[in-house]
Amino acid sequence: MILRLLAAFLLCLVAPRAFIDNAFADDTVAWKTGREAAAIERRIDVLLAKMTLEEKVGQLHLSGRGDGFDINQIKTGRMGGVMNFVVPSEVLAVQHAARESRLKIPVIIGLDAVHGFSTYFPLPLGQASTWNPKLIEEAAYWTGREARAAGIQWTFAPMVDISRDPRWGRVLEGAGEDPYLASVVAAARTHGYQRGGVATTVKHFVGYGAAEAGRDYNSTWIPTSQLHDLYLPPFKASFEAGSMTAMAAFNALNGMPATAHRGMLTDLLRGKWGFKGFVTSDFGSITELRLHGIAKDDAEAARKALLAGIDMDMMGDVYLKHLGNEVTAGRVPMKALNEAVRRVLRVKFHLGLFERADIDPAAAPALMQTQAARDVALKAAQEGVILLKNANETLPIAAGVKSVAVIGAMARPEDERVWTDPAGLGRRIIQALPEALKERLPADASVAYEPAFTKACGTEFADKAAAVRIAAASDVIVAMLGEDCEFMGEGASRTNLGLPGVQQELLEALIATGKPVVLVLATARPLVLSWAEAHVAAIVQTFHGGTEGRTAIADVLTGKVNPSGRVPMSFPRSVGQIPVYYDQLPTGRPEKVRQRYESIFMDEKNEALYPFGYGLSYSRFTYANPRVDRASVPMNGTVEVSVDVGNAGSRDGQEVVQLYIRQPVASRSRPLRELKAFEKVALRAGETRTVRFKLDVARFGIHDDEGRYVLDPGSFEIYLGGSSRASETVSFILTKS
Ligand code: NOJ
Repeated sequence: MILRLLAAFLLCLVAPRAFIDNAFADDTVAWKTGREAAAIERRIDVLLAKMTLEEKVGQLHLSGRGDGFDINQIKTGRMGGVMNFVVPSEVLAVQHAARESRLKIPVIIGLDAVHGFSTYFPLPLGQASTWNPKLIEEAAYWTGREARAAGIQWTFAPMVDISRDPRWGRVLEGAGEDPYLASVVAAARTHGYQRGGVATTVKHFVGYGAAEAGRDYNSTWIPTSQLHDLYLPPFKASFEAGSMTAMAAFNALNGMPATAHRGMLTDLLRGKWGFKGFVTSDFGSITELRLHGIAKDDAEAARKALLAGIDMDMMGDVYLKHLGNEVTAGRVPMKALNEAVRRVLRVKFHLGLFERADIDPAAAPALMQTQAARDVALKAAQEGVILLKNANETLPIAAGVKSVAVIGAMARPEDERVWTDPAGLGRRIIQALPEALKERLPADASVAYEPAFTKACGTEFADKAAAVRIAAASDVIVAMLGEDCEFMGEGASRTNLGLPGVQQELLEALIATGKPVVLVLATARPLVLSWAEAHVAAIVQTFHGGTEGRTAIADVLTGKVNPSGRVPMSFPRSVGQIPVYYDQLPTGRPEKVRQRYESIFMDEKNEALYPFGYGLSYSRFTYANPRVDRASVPMNGTVEVSVDVGNAGSRDGQEVVQLYIRQPVASRSRPLRELKAFEKVALRAGETRTVRFKLDVARFGIHDDEGRYVLDPGSFEIYLGGSSRASETVSFILTKS
């Protein structure tokens, strides 16, 4: 290991970047197959035969750094996994402790490396906004590599929960509202982490994002057909990409807590999908089965969870305390315990933990925040920026602008808090917005800065008057506002989706100056922006861009980068519209003339303020000549759909070409639009290119009430364009054979 790192270090000095990456390429983790997999099963048999009941239970116990952590449990074979260790020397101590245990079974070391470890990438929702799977994979790759360099072997990511409810504070961790986009992102992230050398945990199985009213941990009620069409596909995509573990959700699904849901964890996941890895509970969710009202005590909770299919108990101590007794008393069969232990050991073997060299703490810091990782962070932040409004070409900031006022504590990174911040290895956010702007604007343009608030989340003013004064004296106002502090992440549901604190008051005061206002948002969810849409000149949406976030914003504001992010989750006009999403079913009373007895709101429009897939550019893209290569297609066939996409603007840019389908008549009602393909294409100013999609029509079906996949023959409409309101259309007939 030391030799390898030394070689890598020497390579860093002399080799081009691509070559350096190759020097680490063998860190990839993946399921082994064939003889290797069979040999692993035999090694597990040998180990299982040697293990005491206590040691078996120990493999299912996942504990974490902090109060109550007892390293002796590792030495005595009573702890199989640890979490929240980030300091390499501490990780090493954990590895040594495992080596002191009787059977020397390595501990699996996990962490929420969600959107970065030392280099931070945009929040996952911001990554999804790039609609660039390759870039998303690279972000996960670097996250994995940095985590791995600190000794982490297992990340609690990707979160793939679909959500249509921005009241839910955890929408920031997912890929938005759509099952196809979310599946593409889930696969990309899974591949990236694994290539970076860490095993993934696809979570939260299942339905967590459908929490009623968006209140975190609340119950979910999901019909079987919708479960299969909407919530399960990204999990499947992650498993197909090789995810080795999964995490059960906190919520109850249709009345059964996900942590005790045998139908999902065993019948579907292991039975139907053939998943061979292990499932961990969420943090303390086994003991919470008591509070859900399905277990009278922890012993019963442990029994129910294990029998349902939960292999590891995260931070609950419940398996450790009760499972041995449950087995001895005959309430949990030894066979069930053995199976769970086998699944944990299987992952450890496939990850190569038994052979893997210990972490070298001295080598780790040099592998953090490398230029290559930061390049990806910058690109991801740039491509994740969504231009929501740009009246009168306010952006990019024109050459004639002589003074810019940057307002808002969010513009400076000191206060930023991302949901998970585990690095502990000297995290640096590189640039503040005022400095980044100053560097990019012509030398004679001044940039003044006033934070206005005491904290980035704008809960109280520091100096409102100064902010308004500076703003009034400038040519253009850039107000960087949003959500931070306690307003985002787990346990941070909101019923009011306006700007938190006193930020709206400031925004209105800035508008009152009469100067053009560019609103730059760093939020964790789509907010209700109806007032801003009506009053500000330009709106730039980011979902906390990470290490290079503000640099990327400055690139977009000054035109160095042409924005290409697209909305991954519809922006509601008002909270009362929620849930609002593009792939709605038709109603029998569609909106026609906005009158009574139509499916409308009396006081609000039906459609989102900014729909799924939407986003502006400094270029203007045109669509023409949509066509299919055949008029009828058999069920096992393919159809090629083409469209000519042009850049009619004067700048080079990137367009996300989106393809939606609709089956107007089928055995059950189908959505008005369903995303089935997309491609992000770079087009030079004036360039036109034909974009082609080869579509496997077998994936155009839906599920029925029993969860059976149904593909009905008949006519399919195809819509092509730059958002879910795409209007270029063609059609084909799906035939039985
Ligand atoms: C609870 C969260 O729901 C889960 O996603 C996370 O991985 C664990 N805490 C561990 O931090």
